[in-house]
Amino acid sequence: MRVYLDNAATTQIAPQVIDVMLTVIKDNFGNPSSTHFFGRNAKALIENARRSVAKHMNCLSSEIIFTSGGTEADNMAIHAAVNNLGVKRIITSSIEHHAVGHTIESLTKENLVESVFVKIDSKGHVNLNHLEELLQENIPTLVSLMHANNEIATLLPLKKVAQLCRKYKAYFHSDTVQTIGHYPIDLQDLDIDFIACSAHKFHGPKGIGFIYVNKKTKISPFVCGGAQERGLRGGTENIVGIVGLAKAMELAYKDLEEHQNHVQALKSHMMDELKILFPSVLFHGETETSKSLYTVLNVCFPKTEKGGMLLFTLDLKGVAVSGGSACTSGANKGSHVLEGIGADITRPNARFSFSHYTTKEEIDYTLKQIKSVFDVNIR
Ligand SMILES: Cc1ncc(COP(=O)(O)O)c(C=O)c1O
Repeated sequence: MRVYLDNAATTQIAPQVIDVMLTVIKDNFGNPSSTHFFGRNAKALIENARRSVAKHMNCLSSEIIFTSGGTEADNMAIHAAVNNLGVKRIITSSIEHHAVGHTIESLTKENLVESVFVKIDSKGHVNLNHLEELLQENIPTLVSLMHANNEIATLLPLKKVAQLCRKYKAYFHSDTVQTIGHYPIDLQDLDIDFIACSAHKFHGPKGIGFIYVNKKTKISPFVCGGAQERGLRGGTENIVGIVGLAKAMELAYKDLEEHQNHVQALKSHMMDELKILFPSVLFHGETETSKSLYTVLNVCFPKTEKGGMLLFTLDLKGVAVSGGSACTSGANKGSHVLEGIGADITRPNARFSFSHYTTKEEIDYTLKQIKSVFDVNIR
C-alpha cells in the first residue's frame, strides 16, 4: 500500500485538470503574443483563465498576474514594495516560508530595507498588539505575514491584520499559498496589496501560480522582457499551466465545503487515535479547527530510541510524510519554523498533510505503521 500524506509539499493533479491540459498541449501551441489565429486562440485561453481566477478571488482580472509559482509571486511582492513603493521597513515573522524569509533577508543584507520580526507565541500566532506597536512608528512599511503556516498549520486572522495595516498606512502582503483553493478568499472584502498563489497546492500543475496586485498599488515588472501580463511579467506565458491552474481552482471551489469537512474529519480522527496511542503526544502549532489549516497536522511523538527512525520506517512501509525536525546536524538544517516557536526538538516529529483524495483507510493504515515503529506501550 502507498499512502501519500505530504499534500502541503505538493498535491496530485486532478484528472480533470490533466484532461484540459492535454487538450491545450495538443491543440493550442500558438504564442499568445502573435496576432494571427493561433496566437489569438492561445491569448483567449489565458484571458478566460484569468477571468475565472478573478471571479473566484472576487477581484478584477487586471489584478491577477500569472507567475511561475508561489516563490516568484512572493519575491515579486517584496521586491516591488522596496523598489517601487518606497518601503523602508518590512515587518515579518521568523516562521515565514523561505520564499518570503530569504527574500527579505537578502534585501536586508543589501541594506535596501530594514526588517523587524513581530513577536509570535508558542503556537505560531502573531502578537497583534506587538504588530500594532510596531506599526505606530512612522516608517514606510510592508507587512509580510503568511495566511497559514505550511509546517504547523497556524492561521493568521488575515482581515484583522489587513485592517491594522490600512489603519497605519502600511502595505500588506500575505503568502496565501497554502490557503488558496482551501478557503474562500474575497479580495473585495479583504483590503490587501498582494497575495501569492501556487497551483500545485490544490491539485493543479507545478511551475504556475499568480500574484494578486491591488489596482491601487502601482508597481513595475519584476521579470523584465516583453509586454506580457500587462507589462508586469515578461516571458511567453505558460498557457498549459495557466489553463490547468484555472481548472484546478474551479474544482477546488466547486466542492470546497465537502472537501473541508472530509479532510477535517480525517485530521480529527488521526489526532484522537494518536492521543489514545500516546497519551503524551503533542501537536506543534495550532490544532483548534477555526484557527488551524485543516490539511496539516504536525505531530510531536514521545522521545524513544525508535522514534528517530520514524520517517524512514514509514517510507519503507509506503507512507510518505514530511519531517520538520529542527536537528541541525549534517545537510539537514532542520525546521526554522519549529525553532521559531521554541518547540521541543529533541522529540521525533512528522508533518502529516491531507487532501480530499485521502481516505480513512489510509489514515488507519498509517496509524498501524506508526504503532509498529514505536512498539506501542509507550506512555
Ligand atoms: C507557504 C508557501 N509559500 C510559498 C511556497 C512556494 O511555492 P512554489 O512551490 O509554487 O514556488 C510554498 C510551497 O512550498 C509554500 O508552502
